[in-house]
Amino acid sequence: MEREILITEEQILCRAKELGEEISKDLKDEDVILLGILKGSIPWMGDLMKRIDLENLKIDFMACSSYGASTRTSGTVKIVKDIEEDISGKTVLIVEDIIDSGITLNYLVGYLKNRGAKDVKICTLLDKPEGRKVDIDVDYVGFSVENRFIVGYGLDYDQKYRQLPYISALD
Ligand code: IMP
Ligand code: MG
Repeated sequence: MEREILITEEQILCRAKELGEEISKDLKDEDVILLGILKGSIPWMGDLMKRIDLENLKIDFMACSSYGASTRTSGTVKIVKDIEEDISGKTVLIVEDIIDSGITLNYLVGYLKNRGAKDVKICTLLDKPEGRKVDIDVDYVGFSVENRFIVGYGLDYDQKYRQLPYISALD
């Protein structure tokens, strides 16, 4: 199947290096938990964590669901796998695959602050600003994309295409 490649693996690795350096500088005095949101963040999390140079860095994962087998958000967020690390007094840096409506992250930021995080920051591989339904501060963005349905590099359609080593649009 022919697919249009929007962003290559090489571009992503280059961006991970840039953002990793920025994050290392910005958070050098903090106790940081890098929190990957399963499953979409897996490849991006792997790239990014290797580029973050912080002594006290810990990693953890959470899984939420909101989409199901559809290309539109259902508007509700459910925690499928909770964080295991104690986050009180720590800076949590959420690593996400894509921000569309912002509903998932808006919910998660509130949830993590409630659990005592000192600060919650966001690093997303992709941002679809046109899809935004709630206001949210995004600290680190890999790439902005148009309002199309994206697959590859962790992003799925009906759990497929996550393994593609590039970002592509499913039209
Ligand atoms: P939001 O809550 O609308 O911001 O959606 C966030 C979640 O929806 C992401 O973590 C993805 O899992 C999924 N999602 C949003 N847009 C896309 C897309 O274009 N392709 C694949 N998944 C998407
Ligand atoms: Mg996701």
